[in-house]
This record gives sequence, C-alpha cells and structure tokens, in this order.
Amino acid sequence: MEQTAVLSALGLSKRYRRGGPWALREVNLAVPAGSVTAIVGPNGAGKSTLIRSWMSFERPTAGRVLVDGIDPWSHRSEALARVGYVPQSASLYRDLTVSDHVDLAAILRRGFDRSLAVRRLAALAILPKQRAGDLSGGQQAQLALALALGTRAPVLLLDEPLASLDPLARRDFLTLLAEVVRDEERTAFLSSHIVTDVEQVADRLVILSVGRIMLDQDVAAARATHRIVVAAGVLPSNTIGVFAGPSGEQLALFDAAGSPLGRPATLEEIVLGYLAAGRATEAAATGWAA
Ligand SMILES: Nc1ncnc2c1ncn2[C@@H]1O[C@H](COP(=O)(O)OP(=O)(O)OP(=O)(O)O)[C@@H](O)[C@H]1O
Ligand SMILES: [Mg+2]
Repeated sequence: MEQTAVLSALGLSKRYRRGGPWALREVNLAVPAGSVTAIVGPNGAGKSTLIRSWMSFERPTAGRVLVDGIDPWSHRSEALARVGYVPQSASLYRDLTVSDHVDLAAILRRGFDRSLAVRRLAALAILPKQRAGDLSGGQQAQLALALALGTRAPVLLLDEPLASLDPLARRDFLTLLAEVVRDEERTAFLSSHIVTDVEQVADRLVILSVGRIMLDQDVAAARATHRIVVAAGVLPSNTIGVFAGPSGEQLALFDAAGSPLGRPATLEEIVLGYLAAGRATEAAATGWAA
C-alpha cells in the first residue's frame, strides 16, 4: 500500500509549543489512491492539524508527511499543486464577489476548470455578483467547495466541509464527491463529525482521539470485525469501549472477528466505542482532581 499512498504521515508528531500538549503523536497513515477516507474524532483531536500539515501550514515537530510522495514542507508549490483544499472555516475575501473568486482561482491555479465551478454554483443558485461576505455560512462553504472541485486536483483535502450545509445540500455534495473520485481517480480525505455522512461516502475510516489513531480500516472490514453486547456483568475480553445506548443502557464495542457474541456493530457504534475508549484514557491523564 505504501507505493500507492497518495497522502501519508510517517511518525508525525506535532506540538504547538515546546513543553505544550501534543496535538498529534506518532501518527502513521497511508491513504490509498482512489479512496475516500473520512477522519472522525472529538474536538481538539488533531484532525485539522493533520490536514494542515499536508498543506504545509504546520511544520511537524517530529516525523513527516508526504503528498504524492512529495514533502510539502520542503517542496511546497509542487505538493500544493496536487491538492484542492477547503479549510474548516471558509477562507473567502468578504468584499469580492462570487465571480471575482472564480476569476481569481482561474488566475492562481493552473488548469482551473472554470466551467465546472460555474456549473456547480449555478446549480446552487449562488449569484455571480453577490459579495462573498453577504453569502450565508452554508453558501460560503459551497463556494469554497466549488472552487476546490474546480481545481481538478488529484487530491482533495476537506476539513469539515459539510458542517454548515443543509441535509439535502450535504447529500448532493457527497454524491458529487463520490462521482468525482470514482470517475476521475481522485483521492479525498475529509474530516466530519457526522457518521451518516461518513457512511454515505467513505470507503475508509480513520478515528483519531487526542492525537492518536484509534482505528484505520476499510469501512467494510470495520463492520465485519466489530460487535456490540449490552454491558451487563463481565465484558468481553477484547472490549474496546463502553458507551450509553439510546435507551440509557451501557453498550460495549468489542473486536470480534467470528465471535457469536452479541450483534454486528453499526458504523456509529464503532465510532462511539473508540471515542469512549480514547476519552477514558485521556480522562485518566488530565490531572484534574475528580
Ligand atoms: N494554532 C494553534 N496554536 C496552539 N495550539 C493549537 C493550534 N491549533 C490547534 N491547536 C491545538 O491542537 C490540538 C488539535 O487541534 P485541531 O484543530 O487539530 O483539532 P480538531 O480535531 O480539528 O478539532 P475540531 O473538531 O474542533 O475542529 C488542540 O488541542 C488545539 O488546542
Ligand atoms: Mg478541526
């Protein structure tokens, strides 16, 4: 898989100040070409830090990252030419219009597909003469996504691209993203807090908790190897995490290839189980007196 990894992290550790907490701790990741990988994790887990490292906005404290085999820290323009990026908060110029943004992208980005971006904006009824600062939060996100798609970059790095979109807009965008990746052999890596979005689009799932990777697996494999039991009495020996079910009962996620115990876990339960495991480890380490 290493040769075909389009995005990789090799022993990546990051802290923002000397002696401060680690935002990422020895993260190893290889994102295969042609995949849609979703990364989920609690606030502050390090998702944006990881994505920003691939964009060369953050310098690794240890280890390194590669974009298509290129180190973005030492070869920024070569690496970034391969990437379409949408930051967590859309970085638009408030006083420029929508069409100014399209013009600017066409000037700054070689190979920018203006008609693709324009078709997308027209389909969303976003008007060319509107000031970006006057668009709603969701429309700003849509503009940023249309510009990223217009780059036709082989790699899309999308940091919570869907957070401010309405449910239909989300579904539309994910459908389009899946098509683009499939038809044009691109690779997408997106962060999200919403498991139904992950379910719709991702073929790989990465769970990050406080700087550490808890799970990095094909979605199909994750479903096949995780099961749920009601946590009453003795827990299965390979229990990963325990969390509250919808009626308040405690559910245990466990690693269970071939086990007859319990029932298959849903993707949401897999995420909840790992997040509960990560939280339990961190709570023990915070130093707060109970
Ligand atoms: N510029 C910065 N300076 C100092 N610390 C930072 C900076 N950016 C992020 N951090 C810290 O790094 C850690 C990871 O933050 P990051 O933004 O990567 O998390 P995240 O997983 O994207 O969270 P969210 O879901 O809230 O977007 C947090 O503890 C955060 O406080
Ligand atoms: Mg973030």
